[in-house]
Amino acid sequence: MKATAIAHPNFALIKYWGKSDVEHNVPAVGSLSITLDGLTTTTSVHFDFDLESDHFTLDGLERPEMAERVSGCLDLVRGRAGVDVRARVGSENDFPTAAGLASSASGFAALAVAAKEALGAEIGTTELADIARQASGSAARSLFGGFVELRLRPGGRFPTETLQILGPAEWPLRVAVAVTDPGPKTTGSTEGMLRTEQTSPFYPAWVESSEADLAEAREAVARRDFEALAEISESSCLKMHAVMMSARPGLVYWNGTTVECLHCVRKLRAGGVPAFFTIDAGPQVKVICEPDAFDRVTAELASIEGVQRVLTSGLGDGARVVES
Ligand code: DP6
Repeated sequence: MKATAIAHPNFALIKYWGKSDVEHNVPAVGSLSITLDGLTTTTSVHFDFDLESDHFTLDGLERPEMAERVSGCLDLVRGRAGVDVRARVGSENDFPTAAGLASSASGFAALAVAAKEALGAEIGTTELADIARQASGSAARSLFGGFVELRLRPGGRFPTETLQILGPAEWPLRVAVAVTDPGPKTTGSTEGMLRTEQTSPFYPAWVESSEADLAEAREAVARRDFEALAEISESSCLKMHAVMMSARPGLVYWNGTTVECLHCVRKLRAGGVPAFFTIDAGPQVKVICEPDAFDRVTAELASIEGVQRVLTSGLGDGARVVES
């Protein structure tokens, strides 16, 4: 009853921020993302009847603050498999954890896949994505590769459905991540979302405008229209940060270097270089570009004062079992 799975982070181009049901972690908006191939989480799950409770380590260290979410995800898989058995879970990231690089997305996607495999549970893809979504909204998207959409399905069997809309090889864009501060983020996503919902006067407008943004991005992906995807993605990112900043107290995830990177990317695009940015709940700047522009983009980002390193990636596959 042992399995190991790997998963990669995904970056949302059309952002998820806000929950319609906090208890069941149902997002208030759909989202659209790209799954990477360059950064990897490897998670092993070993179910053992001799254990009295679940044990969890991340990068070799016990992380009690995450134990409840890990056990919650295991409970959903155990419930579907109809067995009551605890597990030892070990997860390793080959990139900075909790710095806005979507480590919870790859972490819970790998956990769901490894737990299902270890228990031999009969769980279909839609349901497994919905299980991962309950652990962390963005995790459902890392179950799939390439371009992925998480749709809201109010009244459906599951409240969300996640699916691949284009494979990684069908539009092989590249990604460069300018790391401006490798430390953990100041306010976690869940807390930040709740504060935004409760205090930002702009939150209803954010939720209302999301379906139109998704439709625009979906069409841009179908047409492989880089410029259109660049525009709608930067708009969704800046709109999310605007609504975060308008919370009380305002959530400012950026530092000065974040802003420098953003201007650099805008300048490059104005000069004809196909590149655009997105930024999540942290100060790192993720830049998506056409393959031909990749060397130029990484060199420009690396030359900005305050950029500590530039991580690079292509688009990759969804979470998968590597050992069973
Ligand atoms: C800014 O998936 O981390 O990265 O469901 O509370 O675990 P929880 O939130 P999480 O939020 C991701 C927020 C974001 C945007 C995105 O990835 O869509």
